[in-house]
Amino acid sequence: MKDTAQPFTCLLTGGAGFIGAHVVREILAIDESGQASVLVLDDLTGGFIENLPDDPRIQFVEGSVTDVRLVDRLFDEHSFDFVYHIAAYAAEGLSHFIRRFNYTNNLIGSVNLINASVRHEVRRFVFTSSIAVYGSAQVPMAESTVPSPEDPYGISKLAVELDLKSAHEMFGLDYTIFRPHNVYGEFQNIGDRYRNVVGIFMNRIMRNESLPIFGTGEQTRAFSYIGDVAPGIARAPFVRESRNEIFNVGADQPVSVNELATTVADAFGVSPVLDFLPAREEVVAAWADHSRFRNVFRPGGEVSLEDGIGRMATWAKEVGPRSSTEFSNIEVTRNLPESWKLTSDDA
Ligand SMILES: NC(=O)c1ccc[n+]([C@@H]2O[C@H](COP(=O)([O-])OP(=O)(O)OC[C@H]3O[C@@H](n4cnc5c(N)ncnc54)[C@H](O)[C@@H]3O)[C@@H](O)[C@H]2O)c1
Repeated sequence: MKDTAQPFTCLLTGGAGFIGAHVVREILAIDESGQASVLVLDDLTGGFIENLPDDPRIQFVEGSVTDVRLVDRLFDEHSFDFVYHIAAYAAEGLSHFIRRFNYTNNLIGSVNLINASVRHEVRRFVFTSSIAVYGSAQVPMAESTVPSPEDPYGISKLAVELDLKSAHEMFGLDYTIFRPHNVYGEFQNIGDRYRNVVGIFMNRIMRNESLPIFGTGEQTRAFSYIGDVAPGIARAPFVRESRNEIFNVGADQPVSVNELATTVADAFGVSPVLDFLPAREEVVAAWADHSRFRNVFRPGGEVSLEDGIGRMATWAKEVGPRSSTEFSNIEVTRNLPESWKLTSDDA
């Protein structure tokens, strides 16, 4: 019998967020038994409960992975076969200014889950790391590239990766690590002013505002449609060759932020009004090699940027603009980009 025909139980952190909400749906689609159970743990700091599908196989718990007593209680009460750890605050640029929060949320929170997974002999720990672990390495970044993260966000992701490797060697905890990059699509939080450039552009176009661009806009990223990312993450525990492996996942084709602005504006039928801001500390070119992912997961064809942006724009028009929330607890204000200092909601 195939593994997916047996009922399984999993914990999915960050399921009310963008990538998590898609991974939940993919997990439910994989479940051939119709009896799987998915416990979603999310503190709703970046996600929305409405992102979750209405399905009796899902149980939602509002809470944080940093709450070790809650995490331990959930592991005591449920016998998780798999853990998908997707929760994080992924504002890479902002992480320089919220170092303590970043390491508490993204590193210590992860360690709480790893400890519990070791104690309860979880069969697979799936972790969404990031291309941020490579820093400004030569492109295309391959899994064999020596990681050298340049910001606290990337450092915390690499630390979790290393901790998983060590937990595997010491205790036999099996893992699969994904390093996605610049993912966009339906359910993304378009109201976070510090991250998700595609969402920021869409939100601002719907509010008749200009599109902020740090530096020249010639920095390149391979923007990745969620439909090309979420299925592999969901399938990982059922793909034997992905055991204790690391995979880049996402689109192959890099484009500049300027080109992205034009594509997004086209999807809304407007001309982009660009607002060039002083350059910030960021990697100039970031795109990755995905041959390892393709060999193991054998995904279908990739969604083009125009198609993916078109699908997301259709959804964004339905839900409408979101007010742009500020991070209330900046720890270091030195060198904080001017545009992030604004206190008005119209920034
Ligand atoms: N979106 C991307 O382009 C991208 C790229 C690389 C890696 N990732 C990683 O993928 C994961 C998901 O990112 P996303 O874009 O869906 O972000 P998101 O903000 O939409 O989702 C993250 C979810 O985690 C929740 N969360 C945050 N801190 C939590 C905590 N302490 N306890 C419980 N829940 C918490 C948020 O409420 C949110 O629902 C993150 O780990 C991120 O680092 C994302």
